[in-house]
Amino acid sequence: MRLQVFLSRSGVCSRRRALELIKEGVVSVDGQVITEASFPVDSDKHSVSLGRKKIILKSNTYVLLNKPKGVTSTRLDKHAKITVMNLLPARFRHLYPVGRLDKDTEGLLLLTNDGDLTHKLSHPKFNVDKTYAVGIAGRLKNAHKIKLERGVFLEGKKTYPCRIGIINMSGKTTRLRIIIHEGRKRQVRRMFYSLGYTVVWLKRLSEGPLNLGGLKSGQCRLLTNKEITGLLEFVSGK
Ligand code: URA
Repeated sequence: MRLQVFLSRSGVCSRRRALELIKEGVVSVDGQVITEASFPVDSDKHSVSLGRKKIILKSNTYVLLNKPKGVTSTRLDKHAKITVMNLLPARFRHLYPVGRLDKDTEGLLLLTNDGDLTHKLSHPKFNVDKTYAVGIAGRLKNAHKIKLERGVFLEGKKTYPCRIGIINMSGKTTRLRIIIHEGRKRQVRRMFYSLGYTVVWLKRLSEGPLNLGGLKSGQCRLLTNKEITGLLEFVSGK
C-alpha cells in the first residue's frame, strides 16, 4: 500500500493532508523519513510514525444505512434537527457518509472510515453507477426521456448520459428507475425540473455493487465480508 494511503486509512488524516505531511518530512518508515507519497508500505513488516507517534493501521468499517426522508446526511449540521449520526449506534459514529443524499431523499447510504474507497465511489471520473427509484408528477414524455438520457444542462454543464426505465405511468404520476454516475447537488431532482417535472419521491437503491436489499428505513447494518470484498474489488478496477 502507498504511504499516503496507509496514513489516510489509519484514520489520522485525509488523503490530502497525508500528502502534505509526507512532503513536510514528518512521516518515517522504520525510523527513516520518507517524503515520497507512493513509497510502498507493508503494514505487517514496516513501522510507520508521524513525528514520534507510531501509526497503527485500523481495520476499516463499512456500514449500510437506509436513510429515511427528513434526515440530513452530513455528519455535523448545526441547523439539522436530525442527522444520520443520530440513527447510528455509538460504535459507528466515527464513520463518514460516502457522498450525500438530500434531506428529502431516502435510501442507500454507505458510511465508512475508508478514505480511499470514499474517494473512488464519490468522484464522477470513476463512473460508479447509482440507481434511484423516482416518482414524478405527470407523465414523462418519451422525447423528454431521451433528452434526459442524453444529458441536460444544469448550471451550464451537461449531465453525463444516463439510463431511464419506466416502471409505470398511472394517473398523474410516473414511476421510473434512473441510473446515473455523477453526484451533483440534487442532480436527479434538478434534471427532471429542467424539463418541467417535479420529483415527488426519490430513493437510492444501489451504488456500484451494493444494494439496499431488504434493509428497513432507518436501519443500518455492517456489510458482510462478501460485500466488502466485492466492493474493494470493484473499486480496485477503477
Ligand atoms: N439526486 C438528487 O436529486 N438527490 C439526491 O439525494 C441524490 C441524487
